[in-house]
Amino acid sequence: MPEILSSFAQENIKRAASLIRAGRLVAFPTETVYGLGADATSDTAVAKIFQAKNRPDFNPLIVHYHSRDAAFADVERNDIALTLARKFWPGSLTLVLKRKPDCRVSLLCSAGLDTLAVRVPDLADAREFIRQAGTPLAAPSANRSCGISPTSAEHVASSLDNNVELILDGGACKAGLESTVIGFFNSQPHILRHGAIAREKIEEELKLKLTDLTAVADNQAHHSPGQMLKHYAPDIPIRLNALHIKPGEALIAFGSNVPAGAEKTVNLSPSGDLAEAAANLFKTMHLLNSNKYEGIAVMPIPEYGLGIAINDRLRRASSTAV
Ligand code: TXA
Ligand code: MG
Repeated sequence: MPEILSSFAQENIKRAASLIRAGRLVAFPTETVYGLGADATSDTAVAKIFQAKNRPDFNPLIVHYHSRDAAFADVERNDIALTLARKFWPGSLTLVLKRKPDCRVSLLCSAGLDTLAVRVPDLADAREFIRQAGTPLAAPSANRSCGISPTSAEHVASSLDNNVELILDGGACKAGLESTVIGFFNSQPHILRHGAIAREKIEEELKLKLTDLTAVADNQAHHSPGQMLKHYAPDIPIRLNALHIKPGEALIAFGSNVPAGAEKTVNLSPSGDLAEAAANLFKTMHLLNSNKYEGIAVMPIPEYGLGIAINDRLRRASSTAV
């Protein structure tokens, strides 16, 4: 099993940062999910991420910075990106922008594209770790490819096992859902992945409607290759919009009016709060991902605000496509 350091004490951050500089992998918390971090400027370190996750190498990675200025040193800014960065960084927004000619980040992180996905995480401890590492960190979610995203150090340890040497344990992730990914085509912003910042919040800030490319992304590797249809999948079937329980099923509930008869019920948010539901989603999927159950039934989740990202993850988890 990997070593877990259960605090962000200076000596622990120092140790983790020096492992990064030595080209090794360290899993660390962000406000969204745990990331599997490596020195983004080192081809060999980044390659280790793909190996550890068993991730197809056409799938690009998000690179994490300790500050806005550090991020914009590697990618071309535009007015809209700057507005979004000012409003939402540090925070759960990822911007896909053109690499600068002198971008230091390994081309492996871009997986053959001329763009790079960058973000500045909200969790202050994570930013301090990145600062002390002295290099941007490539960090996809710290789970085996196609698995459920990790929102605790235990999830990381059970998914990656010895494929990661060290885990910085920061407790449960606040948002519990990956960052929202925005890309630019013909200078216009598009949404590539629904995530922890609701689309409406971004549209409000920009005073324009975003084109939704999340569906296109399923089919065109070109836009957002990470959006594979079968993703986030547990090992047992998931059935969405369930109003009744079938024999042997566990239930992911939402709100009141919970149907009876499930082997086990976990309510994402009894009061119907979508942010609370988002924070509990992956944790609950981990908990119910057991062959003790015939499958997992999920009650309907409203399709607005963070509900859009939650439903997106659930649809991928329930997909039988590969
Ligand atoms: O919240 C998060 O974003 C977490 C934490 C650890 O920061 N990270 C994360 O990374 O979810 P990852 O690698 O699992 O997801 C990367 C997403 C994928 O959907 C991928 O296709 C998209 O970002 N992406 C990355 N680089 C891209 C690029 N150059 N063009 C288009 N999409 C890109
Ligand atoms: Mg992931």
